[in-house]
Amino acid sequence: MSDDLDRIRADSIERIQSARDGAELDDLGRALLGKKSPLVAIRRTLGDLDGDERKVVGRALNEVTEALKAALDQRRAVFAEAERAASLAGERLDLTERTDRLRLGHLHPITQTRDRLEDVFTGMGFTVAEGPEVESDWYAFEALNIPAAHPARSMWDTLYVELGEPGTTLLRPHTSPVQIRLMESQEPPLYSVMPGRVYRNETTDATHLAVFHQIEGLVVDRGITFGDLSGTIDAFTKAYFGADVESRLRPSYFPFTEPSAEFDVQRSDGSWLELGGCGMVHPEVLEAVGIDPEAWTGFAFGFGIDRLDSVLNGIDDIREYQRNDIRFLNQF
Ligand code: FA5
Repeated sequence: MSDDLDRIRADSIERIQSARDGAELDDLGRALLGKKSPLVAIRRTLGDLDGDERKVVGRALNEVTEALKAALDQRRAVFAEAERAASLAGERLDLTERTDRLRLGHLHPITQTRDRLEDVFTGMGFTVAEGPEVESDWYAFEALNIPAAHPARSMWDTLYVELGEPGTTLLRPHTSPVQIRLMESQEPPLYSVMPGRVYRNETTDATHLAVFHQIEGLVVDRGITFGDLSGTIDAFTKAYFGADVESRLRPSYFPFTEPSAEFDVQRSDGSWLELGGCGMVHPEVLEAVGIDPEAWTGFAFGFGIDRLDSVLNGIDDIREYQRNDIRFLNQF
């Protein structure tokens, strides 16, 4: 009898282990432990056995029954865990980004150039300052030694804003008003560059925009000379364009600098690229902001960022920067 029980136990456990799901396990539970199971059949025969044998078989029967129940429970727990894991997997949200579908943008080429220029100038010890795009006549012209009716006003085709007295509020046609704001708000010594957007009442063409960008430089300190201006332009040229690139100054005229110059850098093919204007800050300008021209001298320079970028990149129509054609912008 106990051989039978051992065999039943071994067979049953093997079947329990190989059950594939909970439903199969339920059927198996009924078949192995239910009314029609071999174990119940054996239990029914217990009454025919004598006292001692009945005890032994009865105990063995209980052990097998408990062992099968335990095996069923264990297997059921395995299925429950698998079910829980499957349901968790079903509820899982995939929050990872589809980077294969995302096209990353980048800064506009003019912004990139402006950033690089700022980096070079800050590396040379300049700070970066900014001013408003809507300006008053005082900052844009008067304080820069260009009184009303001065013929030099025609150098800047200015767009006026309908605000206050006619002709008093305008869209700045250059970044030079920021020089005035800086000198008004800070005591010299000053070493700053001032990048920003400027506006001119101009017909656009391949080399002219009505809205473009300039970067202005201003130094005011004791004993600043034209040699410092020339050296600074050259140091900037070499830092930005390369150590073997030359710069040159040509005489020019600006009402707010005296003497004044245009500055050019030499390209690899030997031709000269006109970059912008510069000069020694005019004593009238220093006086307009309450700086004593006997004690302090300075120089200023300013050039077009869009013009510089278009020439360097061989863009033959500067208006491309403002068409925002993605095929053009993607090249930068
Ligand atoms: C000025 O605006 C002076 N404020 C520069 C200056 C600053 C001189 C400090 C002395 C001291 P100008 O009008 O030449 O100068 O303009 C300077 C640069 O701006 C030009 O060399 C050119 O690079 C750029 N620029 C001028 N007009 C346009 C335009 N319509 N489109 C694109 N770039 C322009």
